[in-house]
Order: sequence, then C-alpha cells, then structure tokens
Amino acid sequence: MAGSNLSARVQALPGDPIFGVVERFKADPRPNKVNLAQGVYMDESGSTPILGTVREAERRLLASSTTKVYKPIAGDPRYLEVMRAILFRPAGAPWGDLEPAVSGRVEMVQTPGGTGAIRLAVELVTHLRPEAEIWISEPTWPNHRQIVDESGAVARQHTWLSADGARLDIEGLLAAIDAARPGDAMILHASCHNPTGIDPTPAQWSEIAAHATARGILPIIDFAYQGFGDGLVEDAAAVRAFLQVGGEFLVASSGSKNFALYDERIGALAIVGADASAATTLLSHVKALVRTAWSNPPAHGGEIIVEILSDPKLRAEWELEVTAMRTRIADNRAALVAALAAAGAGDWSHLANGRGMFALLNLDDAQIARLRDDHAVYVVALGRLNVAGLTSTNIPVVAKAIAAVVA
Ligand code: LMR
Repeated sequence: MAGSNLSARVQALPGDPIFGVVERFKADPRPNKVNLAQGVYMDESGSTPILGTVREAERRLLASSTTKVYKPIAGDPRYLEVMRAILFRPAGAPWGDLEPAVSGRVEMVQTPGGTGAIRLAVELVTHLRPEAEIWISEPTWPNHRQIVDESGAVARQHTWLSADGARLDIEGLLAAIDAARPGDAMILHASCHNPTGIDPTPAQWSEIAAHATARGILPIIDFAYQGFGDGLVEDAAAVRAFLQVGGEFLVASSGSKNFALYDERIGALAIVGADASAATTLLSHVKALVRTAWSNPPAHGGEIIVEILSDPKLRAEWELEVTAMRTRIADNRAALVAALAAAGAGDWSHLANGRGMFALLNLDDAQIARLRDDHAVYVVALGRLNVAGLTSTNIPVVAKAIAAVVA
C-alpha cells in the first residue's frame, strides 16, 4: 500500500461539545428550533448584531489604514495599553488609571481570542513547570479540560457549586486550593462562571486569593465575560483581589463577547509577575511560544478595540452597549425563572442567583436529547442554556419544553 495512511490508527472523534451542538442545530430543518447552545449574545430578533461602535471604528479604519504589515510578536502596543487599562482599572477611577498594585509588573500579549490566551497560559505552565497539575472547576467550560488534556498536563477537578446547585461551595473550593501541590495552576472564571453563572463575591475572591497565594498556586483567570455580570469594573473583583495579595498570576481576556467580535478572534493574556523583572522574564517565554504557534496576532479585532477605547466618545457609547447587553441578559434570566414557574416546571428561583450568559438546568443526557428531539430546543452538557438566546417569543416555548422533560 502506498502513502502514509495517517488515519489508520485512529477513529473519528465526536464533535466538539459546544460547536458540535451548533452544527447539529444548523442542520435541523424544523422552523421552530431554538438555539441556546453557544455563549453568543442575541438580540430580541435572535440575531447577533455588529455593535454600532464597531461599525464606526471599522469605517474609520477603512479610511485611515495604510498597511497590513506584521504586528510585533506580542501584538499591537496600542492594543496592549488599552487592554491593560480595561483589566486593571480601579473602581471609580478615570479611564487610563491603573490599580496602584500594578506598579509596572503587568506585561500584555495580544492573542487570537480568549481561547488563544488560555492555551498560551497553559502552555507557559507546562513549559516552565512540567510537573504542575492544572485545576479546573467541576463543572467548567469543556474547552478548559480539552486545552489542559492537549497540553499533556494532568487535569485536577475541584468543586464549584453547593449540593443544591444554588450557591458557590466556597469551603470546597478553599479546601481544594489548600490540598493542591505548591506550583500547581488553577483556572478560575473571573465572572459569569461558565456553565453555572455562580460567582464568588468580592470578599470570597479575597479569601480565594489569600489561600492560593499561601499555597503557591498559579491562578489563571479566565475573564471572557467582562461587563456581562455586574459591570466592567465590578466584574474585575477577582483581578483586584489577586493584585492585592502580590503574587504572580495570568489573566485571559476576550473581545468576543463584550465587543461582539466573535469571528475576529481577539483576546489578550495579561502576565502579572511578582515584580517587573519577573513579568519581563515570563513575557520572553510567552513570546517564544507565540512565535512557534501563530507568530504574531491577527490585527483587525485589536485595531477596532483601539479605535473604540482611545476615543472618549466611542468608549462611552461602547460602555452603554455593554450595559444594554448585560441588562437584556439579566431581564431574560428573570423572565425565564417566571416562565418556568408559570409552565409548572417547579421552583427554579435559584437560577436568579446567576450572572452572565449561562444558566445550568442540571439535566441528564436523556433529558437534553428530549429537549432537542421532542421540542427542538438545543442546550449543551448538563443543560447549560444561553440566557442571551432567549426572546419574549421563545421563553414560553422553552419553559414548557423544560417542564416536559423534568416532569
Ligand atoms: C461557550 O461557552 O459557548 C462560548 O464560550 C463559545 C465557545 O468558544 O465555546
């Protein structure tokens, strides 16, 4: 037989736990189907529009841009500056101010999406500390597990929710941190925990940061939903808590959700060192990883964000756009809880404790399949549904479908 036949040793893999469900949704011919599978903002008409500020920024870029030459390995310095300002802005401070504890010890890298930033963070850990185990919450965004497995590191799981599913299991989380080995890393969702929507309070973040630092754990903060919980600054409580305790940590940020730049693949990795020289050292290793992965980042998404955040008027408009998305999601959450009660599905009031795009129904695979097959309602594992995909038209339909499968 000629040829290499690379596929001979393997079987085809199942589809991705989130994108695979979207593919199946798209192939479903039923006209009344409802897509609540993926964390994508939708408006009342069910579409995911380009933000007005993004349109304006693109108009300006089209008129002013003169080249498509490479960006530096770490990305566009103007983009890195505005992202530092967004991530490390003190509460109540004017734009451009940074938390005093930043004091020169934060380096930034532009990444292809939040996923690129998480992957880079995990690769950095496995390169510099191959013996480290990487802790993820149970449950978590499935791609956390996939990224850790792909890196070759051992994934460890810690608890997130209380037994009734209504609250954070803070004792369980702190116990897991205390039990981890010094040098391990832990991926933590800064806000809008995916898939549960249940977040620590600022006081709990301080406890988590104190325990992680005492134990010598490297926090990798996944900050994909900044602005979708309680506000752009409010949602950064985790970042401030880890800054205060003074150790090193990494923050993976995404422009997919709060700028609705999903397909531009724009994100950032913030590298916080114990001091400026440690941050510079880590940055040099991150740049070496980038050079052999994507070499230097795609430019357009970052240029859009620079246009918006560097112009006080556009920035103010964008903050209103984020507020509007957040408010619609919160209203949908309340409407879902009410509709579930009206549909006789029982008491789901604990879902109101959640923040951000996701609510977790805690369904088993058979119930999820019935939602899909009998009711054309698509959710992902454990019955995670995208609250942002609800509309006044589909909420009663979805509530009735859930009532039928939990009966
Ligand atoms: C999600 O969790 O649905 C989103 O973060 C999209 C993705 O990349 O999985």
